[in-house]
Parts: sequence; structure tokens; C-alpha cells
Amino acid sequence: MSAGVPPRAAVERLPVRADLADVEPYGAPQLDVPVRLNTNETADLPPAGYLDEVARRITGLELNRYPDRPHRELRAALARRLGLSADQVWAANGSNEILQQLLQAYGGPERRAVYVRPGYSMYPELCRTSLTPAVEVDLDDDFQLTPEVAQAVAAQDPDLVLVPSPNNPVGTPVGHDAIRVVHDTTRALVVVDEAYVEFGAPEASVLDLLAHLPRLVIVRTFSKAFRLAGLRLGYLAAATWVVDDVEKVRLPYHLDAVKQVAGLVALEQEADFLGHRQQVADERDRVAASLTAMDGVEVWPSAANFLLFRTAVDDLFARLLDQGVLVRDFSSKPRLTGCLRVTIGTPDENDAFLAALRHALA
Ligand SMILES: Cc1ncc(COP(=O)(O)O)c(C=O)c1O
Repeated sequence: MSAGVPPRAAVERLPVRADLADVEPYGAPQLDVPVRLNTNETADLPPAGYLDEVARRITGLELNRYPDRPHRELRAALARRLGLSADQVWAANGSNEILQQLLQAYGGPERRAVYVRPGYSMYPELCRTSLTPAVEVDLDDDFQLTPEVAQAVAAQDPDLVLVPSPNNPVGTPVGHDAIRVVHDTTRALVVVDEAYVEFGAPEASVLDLLAHLPRLVIVRTFSKAFRLAGLRLGYLAAATWVVDDVEKVRLPYHLDAVKQVAGLVALEQEADFLGHRQQVADERDRVAASLTAMDGVEVWPSAANFLLFRTAVDDLFARLLDQGVLVRDFSSKPRLTGCLRVTIGTPDENDAFLAALRHALA
């Protein structure tokens, strides 16, 4: 053995990839406090009877066998809902996994992704872990995707563009025209992440553009308006070649049999699942009006189940937490100085948040 090289048996630890050495695992705090309004889940449980029906249906599953790999029944049901063919639809374990699969298929060291800022905080993480060089492009001063912003996106000559609509954390949807311009001025896969779209007006979705924009991908989730964050189920709608390409990077049997059934039952009960949206919208508007009426609070218009607001109080996040109210802290993020994001909860939770905020600002 050459001098200076330790015997292999003495090496106790393999260092993690160099680019991950200083990385903190991503995730919003999961704290056991009375009012949790930090991850944009829906406060209401799934409809009564849902779990009973899932339990009844999974009793017959042959769990000794692998699940249907291309999850045909679930895709067919999703496709019917969207007015597409089943080979234009693909599901995975949450929309995060969908986004990861898209970056695995179309990203990588030789490619470039662009995402807008402010935007969903997982985009940088997904670009990093897929070794995809990424460029952030700022939305305008009102956090809108204007023609000038679209021009700045195109100037990067991206392979992938990631746009949340409604934007998280801002709450505003991106218009059809802006998506069309981004598509038509780039050669990129344009990924519109519609995690919250069911909370707004249906016309906010760019689903109708799929027939006209060949490189458009729409990503959705069961975690938000469908109140199934615990299920981990998301999907994409796109041209068939996108689904073919994503299949090249998916793990075999990535979508388990229980989840496939649970997703199908949720789609069958869609009307019950989504029946709470008016209440969420009413509560959102009530909370927004209360925030607007408070001195020193700026609030952004939202078509989602959360509100972004700004104050000049440095430690507001901690002051709310001291009162048992957990929100999302963006105050140290670029362009979001002083900003917090609050998820719309039950009326009681929203009242508790507003009372805690008034107290913290007093
Ligand atoms: C914009 C956006 N996209 C995607 C996701 C991921 O959702 P999930 O992986 O639960 O489907 C979230 C979750 O907060 C989100 O806000």
C-alpha cells in the first residue's frame, strides 16, 4: 500500500456529493402548535365515506403483486376529467415527483432551467439535485409575468421554464398571454405548475392551451384543493412525447397499488372533494380584507388558498409562533423582505391568526 493512503477498512464515512455538503434538508417546519397555517393544505378532512370506500376497494387488491406500472385506470380517469387522452397524462408521488421526473428527463448538466422569482421554493432544490444549471428571472415589481419578464426569460435560451400559476408564494395566476409568449419566444419545455388552480376560476388554468402549445406541460396535485396532501399524488398533462420521455426516468412501479385506488376513488367523488372551495375563497377574502384594514400591512391579491403579506416587523414570525400560530416565513428571502405567507384554515383558525397578528403588531 502506498504511504499516506489509509487502508480502506479504516474509512468510516463516504462524504456526500460535494455540492450537497452544506445543504439543509428542504421542508417547512412541522411543529406541534394549535394553529398550523404554513403548508397550504386544506383544513377540512376528505369527505365522509371516502376512506371507507378506499378501504372497501383495497381489500380486494393482490398486494403480493407489483402494481400496474403505467397506472392505466388512474390515467384514464384523469384524462376523462381533463378532456385528454390517457397517453397525455402521467401521475407520480406528488407534483414534486412529477417536477423531479421532468428535470431528470429534460434537465442535467448540459441543459438550463429558468424559474421565476418569487416562485415555488422547491424549484432551486430540484434543479440542484438533478445537476441542472438554473437561472432565476425576476417577476416585475407587482410580481407579474409581464412581456418584459417573458423577454428576460427568452434571453436565457432555456431548455426548461418553471412557472407556478397561481404563483406560490404570491397567489396570483399567470395569464394565458404570458404563457403563450414564453412558449413562442423560447424552444423550452414550459412547465406551468397549477398546484392551486382549483381554488380560482377554471379559466385561470392554461389547460386549453395544451392543444396549441406543443411544449406546454401542466402539473397538478391532489395535495391542495383535493385535500389529500397525505396521499402524495400529483400528475401532469402534456403532449404524448413528454409522457414517453418521463417514462424513461421513472422508477419501476413508482405508483403503489393502494395510491392508485385512492386516487381513482377521489376522482369518482370529485364533487364532494371540491365542494369546500367557496368557503375557502370566502374565508380568503375575509382574511385579506382584515389584513388590508390593518395599519402597516401590505397584502397581495390571491386566487389560491393562502395570502402573502408584508409588514415592517422583523420578528413577526416568532411573535405569531409564540401565540401558537405557525405561518411560512419568507422575510429573509430575496425580494420578499418582511413577507409572511398564511394558509387559509378553518374560520376559527383564521380568527386565531388575525387575533395573534393584531396582538403582535400592537
Ligand atoms: C407551487 C407548488 N407546486 C408543487 C407543490 C408540491 O405539491 P405536492 O408534491 O404535494 O403535490 C407545491 C406544494 O406546496 C406547490 O406550492
